[in-house]
Amino acid sequence: MSMNYQERIPNNVDLGSNRTLQRALEHWQPHFLSWWQNLGPRDFQVADVYLRTATSVDAKGWATYGFVRMPEYRWGIFLADRDPNRKIGFGDSFGRDVWQQVPGEYRAILRRLIVTQGDTEPASVEQQRMLGHTAPSLYDLRNLFQVNVEEGRHLWAMVYLLHAYFGRDGREEAEELLERHSGDADKPRILGTFNEPIRDWLSFFMFTYFTDRDGKFQLKSLAESSFDPLARTCQFMLTEEAHHMFVGDTGINRVVRRTLEVMKELGTEDPETVRQGGAIDLQTVQRYLNFWFSSSLDLFGSEMSSNAASYFANGLKGRPDESNYEDHIALEQTYTLELPVGNGKSEQIPMRNAMNEVTRGSYVRDCDLGVKRWNRLIEKAGYPFRLSLPSTRFRRNIGNWAGIPTDTAGHPIGAQEFAARQTEWLPTESDQAFILSLMHGVYQPGWMAAWIAPPDRGINNNPVEYEYVRFQ
Ligand SMILES: [Fe+2]
Ligand SMILES: [Fe+2]
Repeated sequence: MSMNYQERIPNNVDLGSNRTLQRALEHWQPHFLSWWQNLGPRDFQVADVYLRTATSVDAKGWATYGFVRMPEYRWGIFLADRDPNRKIGFGDSFGRDVWQQVPGEYRAILRRLIVTQGDTEPASVEQQRMLGHTAPSLYDLRNLFQVNVEEGRHLWAMVYLLHAYFGRDGREEAEELLERHSGDADKPRILGTFNEPIRDWLSFFMFTYFTDRDGKFQLKSLAESSFDPLARTCQFMLTEEAHHMFVGDTGINRVVRRTLEVMKELGTEDPETVRQGGAIDLQTVQRYLNFWFSSSLDLFGSEMSSNAASYFANGLKGRPDESNYEDHIALEQTYTLELPVGNGKSEQIPMRNAMNEVTRGSYVRDCDLGVKRWNRLIEKAGYPFRLSLPSTRFRRNIGNWAGIPTDTAGHPIGAQEFAARQTEWLPTESDQAFILSLMHGVYQPGWMAAWIAPPDRGINNNPVEYEYVRFQ
């Protein structure tokens, strides 16, 4: 189905053929737009931004680029093409036909999964809404807004499923997705990480690298779902999501590159001298990394989870890249879980109960690829410092290691030692004050804040100096 941009709500689901659904979504649309005006990017709603808009769901050549005012962005409903032969890929019903409708017995659980995913999308827009004021360049400002409008579209993706397949409950949930707000004392967003405001661009790059990557893995799990419309929705979201992680990956890369330049110029490895040179010392980068990585790990849930087991058994949520596994039933296998008690003691648990941990493991390996790339820059510059992911046991709030103080290598330590060494491992107030002191908007085309190197290339073959955002 090709994308229809003629209708009020762009779509490739032949929305016009279902008048009731179309009307319901057209009724939700102004609520979405007023949410965007009130809680979307602050103060840039009349700027012309060089944005990409989806024009097909093929992985190649799926987007067009042009100047758009954000409130006029064509948010729409786009699902990957349907494969009429698609079969259930895992769990007890492996090999049977996928579902085009929601089976009654899974209605409540599927709705919950969709709402939880949907809630993160507008949450991140809310978290990032002040960042436009301090963008290090027009290139970065444009990338921020691209991420924001696409998170808005991801909300549309989930709201479509709620409206189309969950009746009145779904419509109510769609309203509530606009009523909860990040950090709101009465109606916060569902997941903890999505209630932390993102005040600076180092955090933004860490968020897009680590937290959007959690999104990638959640979407990959849902893209395996037997509920075919959900799987197809998530497949296309992943295409957009890739850019968000690119922003994080290259953002951190550019921070590191700039720091190395300043270290060379000043002939120093001393963090304080690097800061005086206007760059972010690598130790601070590591502390921000520790914070965002550990907080994103919690989003995968407990190591041992009966919910995860039943999602898998019932074919609701699979493992990312399920086709890479040999055994799609996973009933006979076990998983070895290391326990926080008894010094190196471990436990065998049924594989299905360990699905959160399996997914978290794939996520950690994916996170490490970027760390290796950043380290190659440091190594090439001739410095011994290396960035690293802390242990998955470090600073956890969910699962077996929740509340158990460890060092960054994952060795249990006393609470007092943790408190004493925290400033070594996590951003301190003075780190945060320093990072904030660097944050000033740089809006001259081609100019770059002093704490970050320019990107290797611009967007869509345009030069880095291109005027990606035009103010009125
Ligand atoms: Fe998203
Ligand atoms: Fe994202």
